[in-house]
Amino acid sequence: MKMLFLLLTVVSMPVFAAGGSLHLDDVDIDMSDTASLQRGAGLFVNYCLSCHSAAYMRYQRMSEDLQIPKEVVEDNMMFTADRIGGLMKSTMPADDAKKWFGKAPPDLSLIARSRGPEWIYTYMRSFYLDDNSPSGWNNVLFEKVAMPHVLYNLQGARHAVFKKDEHGVEVFDHFEMVKPGSMNEDEFDSAVRDLTNFMVYLAEPARMVRYKLGVYVLIFLAIFFVFAYLLKKEYWKDVH
Ligand code: HEC
Repeated sequence: MKMLFLLLTVVSMPVFAAGGSLHLDDVDIDMSDTASLQRGAGLFVNYCLSCHSAAYMRYQRMSEDLQIPKEVVEDNMMFTADRIGGLMKSTMPADDAKKWFGKAPPDLSLIARSRGPEWIYTYMRSFYLDDNSPSGWNNVLFEKVAMPHVLYNLQGARHAVFKKDEHGVEVFDHFEMVKPGSMNEDEFDSAVRDLTNFMVYLAEPARMVRYKLGVYVLIFLAIFFVFAYLLKKEYWKDVH
């Protein structure tokens, strides 16, 4: 019994350490929502690729999977490669990034798998102004984060208000808008949902193939059923 208790404590410890008091918000991930994935891709290439890479993904594959015409990708989405067959790499040299931010921005190809969609959705909506941070920004989910709030012109700039809990520890309470952005809260949540949806696709493009394959399999089964039924009728028609 004692052993079990000890084991449980050890197992649950990292959860407490990493999670703090903040809960993660649910996000509706849907690989069949092509419009959402396309909007997410637009946000990703415009706001993230300058610092981060997604070096497992090629523009061409994205164009095919998300049904974005090749010309649109070539003319409007390729800031970091000159061939549509190229990888989604950041142009920022890792050494410079490290100098500027203190930390190199990690590759985001697999981030939705390692952190989970809820984490990303919450993280992108948890930035606040902080005079003590080198970038001027901080994040309630990722304390002392080296990344600035790159979507602040959409979301607006906010202060975070903290309060003391029953143990006298400062915990996050709520945000206060200082300077509104171009989107209201619902619009921004929806944009970040699109972005998260896209990042889930990015982490596992094969999901898309599986999803399409699933539809074909169902169509096949439906047609097959008709023939199987006709065949059954044919076999049994003389038996009665
Ligand atoms: C100005 C450069 C810059 C831009 C633009 C930028 N990031 Fe970041 N990002 C960083 C840096 C630097 C870090 C490392 C933060 C740290 O470890 O403190 C980071 C970390 C992250 C992380 C956390 C990775 C981890 O440690 O698990 C995620 C997720 C992320 N960025 C997503 C995005 C998304 C999505 C966008 C586009 C909307 C974006 N970033 C745009 C610089 C940037």
